[in-house]
Amino acid sequence: MFSTAFLDLPPLQTASGTVALPGSKSISNRVLLLSALCEGTTVVHDLLDSDDTRVMLAALRQLGCGVQLQASTVTITGLGGSAQNHASIAFFMGNAGTAMRPLTAALAVLGGDYTLSGVPRMHERPIGDLVDALRLLGCQIDYLGNEGFPPLRIGKPALQLQAPIRVRGDVSSQFLTALLMALPLVAHDQDIAIDVVGELISKPYIDITLNLLARYGIAVRSEHDGRFVIPKGSHYRSPGSIHVEADASSASYFIGLGAIVSGPGIRIEGVGADSIQGDIRFVEAAQAMGALVEKGPNWLQISRGQWPLRAIAGDFNHIPDAAMTLAVMALYADGPSELRNIASWRVKETDRIAAMATQLRKLGAQVEEGPDWLRIHPLPQAQWKPASIHTYDDHRIAMCFSLAAFNPAAIAVRIEDPKCVAKTFPDYFEALFSVSQTMPGAIPVLCVDGPTASGKGTLASTLASQLGYHFLDSGALYRITAYAALQVGLALDEAHADAIAALAATLDIRFAGERVWLGTQDISDAIRTEQAGMNASAVSSLGAVRAALVGLQHSFRRLPGLVADGRDMGTVIFADATLKVYLTASAERRAERRHKQLISKGISTTLDTLCADLQARDARDTQRAVAPLKPAQDAKLLDNSELTVESSVTQVLNWWQSKQPFGATSVA
Ligand code: DC
Repeated sequence: MFSTAFLDLPPLQTASGTVALPGSKSISNRVLLLSALCEGTTVVHDLLDSDDTRVMLAALRQLGCGVQLQASTVTITGLGGSAQNHASIAFFMGNAGTAMRPLTAALAVLGGDYTLSGVPRMHERPIGDLVDALRLLGCQIDYLGNEGFPPLRIGKPALQLQAPIRVRGDVSSQFLTALLMALPLVAHDQDIAIDVVGELISKPYIDITLNLLARYGIAVRSEHDGRFVIPKGSHYRSPGSIHVEADASSASYFIGLGAIVSGPGIRIEGVGADSIQGDIRFVEAAQAMGALVEKGPNWLQISRGQWPLRAIAGDFNHIPDAAMTLAVMALYADGPSELRNIASWRVKETDRIAAMATQLRKLGAQVEEGPDWLRIHPLPQAQWKPASIHTYDDHRIAMCFSLAAFNPAAIAVRIEDPKCVAKTFPDYFEALFSVSQTMPGAIPVLCVDGPTASGKGTLASTLASQLGYHFLDSGALYRITAYAALQVGLALDEAHADAIAALAATLDIRFAGERVWLGTQDISDAIRTEQAGMNASAVSSLGAVRAALVGLQHSFRRLPGLVADGRDMGTVIFADATLKVYLTASAERRAERRHKQLISKGISTTLDTLCADLQARDARDTQRAVAPLKPAQDAKLLDNSELTVESSVTQVLNWWQSKQPFGATSVA
């Protein structure tokens, strides 16, 4: 996940390959609860790992369910219709609405001595309509704070199941879902009817509930006038094992992507023709815009058909979340597109109509908006502008605007607060980058060169983590090469240059955070000694060795960008880098810093020897014939003798920002 203040998407040219999407949140938490209410064991595959599912799993454990988690598979041993744990239990539900509502209903029907609370925001989310319906049934529920809101206390019920249960359908479909999942627990001796009062909103989510209930042995009858009947004799039966579908709303970004890129297109795994999610109908909208779609039960293959895309106009009430993706696809259409009947956008994570209009205009688009509609005009190549997209803590805004990076003007797009995607798709940008390609040279590189112990490593790795970029410690490659050469008995001199170069070209190097691996050996400490630095300096003066390592260094230039530190990053390896920094500090300062470092590792040495060593290494690195250490002509010089790490980082980030086209980014 990118937890940086912003993420710059370089201009992206095309995309191809396969993406596996995370599981649907709505399905994950329903399946967990249903599995818990069964007798026996259910193996749930492809569960979404999110805040909401963690809350549900914790609650199920508290209730006495068996929960065994292994990667994205969880084995649930159910309660068999009654709580195993009879002590009083306090449940903490965080801000997980998809856990709070159905658990309240199930616990109220099962009965016990429970309290349910959450974060302050949870205590502002209404639950009164559900509590009213449950009380009419004879459930014992008290408000511990404000009437109509959590926290709640649940006691033992005296159930009255003859009369139909009435529940409002126009506030949240989750109330009906909660009742539909709880009442089969007590439908042994009679039919139980639920009457929905008022219009039922978010019908597709009720369809998900009904579908899943059927998988667990409950055949709800859907009758006239909004009546749902749970037939007498219903009881939960485990399906044995069940796969959580990938999230269809998350699929919309990759469906949109497949529609706009040339080439073989994108294969999406985990969701397809058999999907029970309403947002799968986004596929039809994408087809209407020109996408070519092939599908199987749980996969989709999307490629570009008509280009430019066909403008689209229609009612998108049935797919409000996924329709946001259409608003960005509309930039690539052959005329204005109109999204109608989308009033619900105004009351989501943010006012999505206003937000989409404002951010699309930043890109240069002409957009008109009404109370429940949005009209987006296509954006001709010459009118695209670099924009820093504000994301309003709304995961869908961050994700759908990433499609703007495929613009024909080859302009980068900045996404502010990219971590907001964690709500449903923590690794969204990683997934996007894994299928995206761009022209050579479009991936930004920031070089930090300089002499030994100038603090390059610290500066460069901090910059990499603040920008969300990859990091190349090129010195480590020379250190590893020297280490490997000595291990096989090669002297580090010109006579063995070709043999060392051949060895360097085949090294199996892996960087894992701070650790460095050579094959199966963790060599992190071995390559960090003073002697290893001297040895690296020796092999690095061999032209053949330098040449052998060029390809490997270039391979670190991957989306979304790279910070590289070394001696010749700016002069030789990445001569076209966006920004080159040449970092120096006085020899005394560098020796002092190295001295502190070594002492803290328990290695004893003197300042004088260190200073002499540094100067010897500087002399060799600057005087060697190939790629000598020197500032690139266009490098910014930074002497950090008197600077803290933070102020060096700030200085370089300011230089970096001044090279970007976005202007000021407002990041909290
Ligand atoms: O940055 P470092 O101390 O880990 O580098 C070890 C040696 O490797 C250094 O003395 C010179 C050499 N080197 C190089 O020649 N070119 C680079 N890009 C990086 C390091």
